Amino acid sequence: MTLPDHPSLDDYRGQISEMAAQGLAAIGDAPDLDALEAARVAYLGDRRGRMLEFQRALGAIARDAKPEAGRLFNTVKRQLESALDERRARLGRGAGGYTPPADLTMPARPQWTGARHPVTLVIEEIAAIFRELGFTIALGPEVETEWYNFGALNFPANHPAMDLHDTLYVQDDVLLRTHTSPVQVRTLQRFAPPIRILAPGNVYRRDFFDASHAPMFAQIEGLCVDEGVSFVDLKATLGHFARRFFGSTRARFRPSYFPFTEPSAEMDVECRLCRGAGCAACKGTGWMEILGSGMVHPAVLEAAGVDSEKYTGWAFGMGPARIAMQRYGVTDIRVFYDSDVRFLEQIAE
Ligand code: DAH
Repeated sequence: MTLPDHPSLDDYRGQISEMAAQGLAAIGDAPDLDALEAARVAYLGDRRGRMLEFQRALGAIARDAKPEAGRLFNTVKRQLESALDERRARLGRGAGGYTPPADLTMPARPQWTGARHPVTLVIEEIAAIFRELGFTIALGPEVETEWYNFGALNFPANHPAMDLHDTLYVQDDVLLRTHTSPVQVRTLQRFAPPIRILAPGNVYRRDFFDASHAPMFAQIEGLCVDEGVSFVDLKATLGHFARRFFGSTRARFRPSYFPFTEPSAEMDVECRLCRGAGCAACKGTGWMEILGSGMVHPAVLEAAGVDSEKYTGWAFGMGPARIAMQRYGVTDIRVFYDSDVRFLEQIAE
């Protein structure tokens, strides 16, 4: 009962109808889903299904008979497929083919949609502003050595920040980075100036978990190193950033101290929560500190192998969670790290 090598249209019609009748019977009589699957493979399977034989025969059939044979083939295929779907639906519903009526009082399943965390949104927005200025993203490890975290950044040996009180040590000389500044050193070692990078990431400190401190929090480091870079570039760039990010909010620089910068400055923006009037979030000052910055200390450039006679640079470090507090009018930093979706879903996008 195989088709001749060059079947006539009658041969083709006779045999495909016979095969179709058998296939429809096998499908219609399948007692369960396993038997149905076996029937599917036997008739419609890609490797040895009986339909394959008829598909191949289409190529060998006389030209004028081809359109009609093709139509026959498609009709049979559709018939088998719909019989299969019908039988599958019926068997799937259990023995007697009985479909229980839908219970309209049953509560609907909640739909959960993933979203980005507010701190992530702030990081992305900051990165977009600096990207326009030619900054690219750099990343570094969260587990660091003392040298990258402190030594290369010009912290004097036995600086109090290295104390167990402030720093989480993994083992002697290995610690969880307390800031993103080690990425400055790693970048300067790997790439020759000009350098403009932004390094977002998590940092760790042995802080109490209170309204303005968390033991793990995000930071964003910025670094610009080239010939002839000055404090003017620092001030202009960070001022531009504050205007872009916060709108017309006023910003100010205050002198500060960091071992890895000289001179150093902190930038404040007018507190958005009270519009400068003074509130709990800004401790009554009307200003919110958002970043530390300064001219990269020549000792840092030299430690990373960069010629400090030829190159100068500026850097900054900021806390996106602090900034997110300002942006979203949140007065307690812990809400960003508590993973309470009732809070997060009000902001997340
Ligand atoms: N690393 C400092 C901190 O965690 C922040 C900082 C200040 C980074 C000044 C800098 C900088 O790059 O220039 O408090």
